Amino acid sequence: MIANLAQLAAVLATALFIFSLHWMNDPKTARRGVIAGVTAMVIAVVATWIQPQIIHHGWIVGAIILGFVVGVPLSLVPLTAVPQRTALSHAFGGLAAGLVGTAEYFLGLGENPAHLTTFRMTALVAEVILGFLTFTGSLMAAGKLQEVKWIPQRPVTYPGQNVVNIGILGIAVALGAMVVMQPAAAWSPQAFLAIVGLATLFGVLLIIPIGGADMPTVISILNSYAGLSAVAMGFVLNNKLLVTAGALDGSSGLILSIIMCRAMNRSFTNVLFGAFGTVQKAKAGGEQKAWKQETVEGAAQLLEQARLVVIVPGYGMAVAQAQHKVRELYDQLTKRGITVKFAMHPVAGRMPGHMNVLLAEADIPYTALIEMDEINPEMPQCDVAVVVGANDVVNPAARYAKGSPIYGMPIIDADKARTCLAIKRSKSPGFAGIDNELYVSDNTWMLFGDAKAVIGDLVKQFAGGSGIH
Ligand code: TAP
Repeated sequence: MIANLAQLAAVLATALFIFSLHWMNDPKTARRGVIAGVTAMVIAVVATWIQPQIIHHGWIVGAIILGFVVGVPLSLVPLTAVPQRTALSHAFGGLAAGLVGTAEYFLGLGENPAHLTTFRMTALVAEVILGFLTFTGSLMAAGKLQEVKWIPQRPVTYPGQNVVNIGILGIAVALGAMVVMQPAAAWSPQAFLAIVGLATLFGVLLIIPIGGADMPTVISILNSYAGLSAVAMGFVLNNKLLVTAGALDGSSGLILSIIMCRAMNRSFTNVLFGAFGTVQKAKAGGEQKAWKQETVEGAAQLLEQARLVVIVPGYGMAVAQAQHKVRELYDQLTKRGITVKFAMHPVAGRMPGHMNVLLAEADIPYTALIEMDEINPEMPQCDVAVVVGANDVVNPAARYAKGSPIYGMPIIDADKARTCLAIKRSKSPGFAGIDNELYVSDNTWMLFGDAKAVIGDLVKQFAGGSGIH
């Protein structure tokens, strides 16, 4: 009876996981997707808990309480910290898989070595390698994104780095093969622990040469590793739901990584082995051009005369939480018959869909959000491009500066608009740490200040009617 119930629950939870991913595809159904995912997870936990072989209920209750104690504060982080929070979740997933694999091996060894078949051992070794490398790799990625002091932000590279990294992974896999063949030999437990150590080390070494703008792709690759380790764990524990949920997790992480690589015009190998961001600050060359500043009044005049305004949101809009003011500006402009569109860059901000989420929160119609490929052909007809705290995603150096860390990344063509108004607080660079010639180009005017304050002032100009009607 319980076995049938568990089977049914597994099918139901799997279906809900699949629908959850599908619903996440569209902002209109995303909330439903989250509810479906949470429901599926609750069903999965209950279905596992009611199994007759579970006898230590106290441990499970303790684990759930611990999960709440850690999970609730993690869910309260600001949106700008979600990428590192996600990396931490992957770290926990990887650690759980690694620890379960290690425990299963040593329990099996103590109780019934014959149980450690070649199939189980292969799954165990895969689980442990993927689990522990995901654990330390994700911790490093979270630390880099959080700008933890003792983790260098910039790529750390040295000659022969890829050989060393692949060598370490190779030794771990070779030891794994030996343990799979002879799981109960006298040396096997030590070899198993060495695999754990090497995988842990590999996770750190894999991430230190990667810096800057490649971190989001790395996080989703780690997501797929965590999913694969869960698949292996599902085989070890003979839990079908874990296999399907892990496979969904692993494949969606992989698809997301591919989408992001495409968005940044980079290949997987380039992300993982390219030491992104090592080449710094290709000098602007020639004479330094001056930054030209515009007043809020002047900017309002410019906007008022425009027919097409394209707003390019970036990370600074998230920092300033300026989305509601942006909405007010949108209302003021559209009220005057001006067409306003939003240029959406796939990696603007710090996580996939970051800008979409913020603009949706401010109730800006989805129809006004235009993907990069669609908006770029329109940019030469755009009268005013308003760059709100975006930097790397509008940096023309990405088109031609071969030495630049963002070379090859498609950008929003804000520089092709007739006029560009750029809002940022200072002359500091963006995430990739490089200068941006857009700000000093002939048709760009800077509005220095916090995005929320500047746009608030602009809105006041329109609403207060200081001569603008
Ligand atoms: P960035 O290149 O990071 O530039 C953000 C700009 O916003 C900065 O130049 C900053 O200049 C300005 N800013 C910060 N706070 C502000 C505030 N309160 N008011 C006004 N301006 C403010 O942003 P982007 O153009 O969105 O590009 C994103 C970058 O992050 C890319 O390199 C991307 O690859 C990387 N990245 C993306 C993701 C994902 S998946 N989206 C994840 C991790 C990393 P000031 O300091 O002068 O104000």
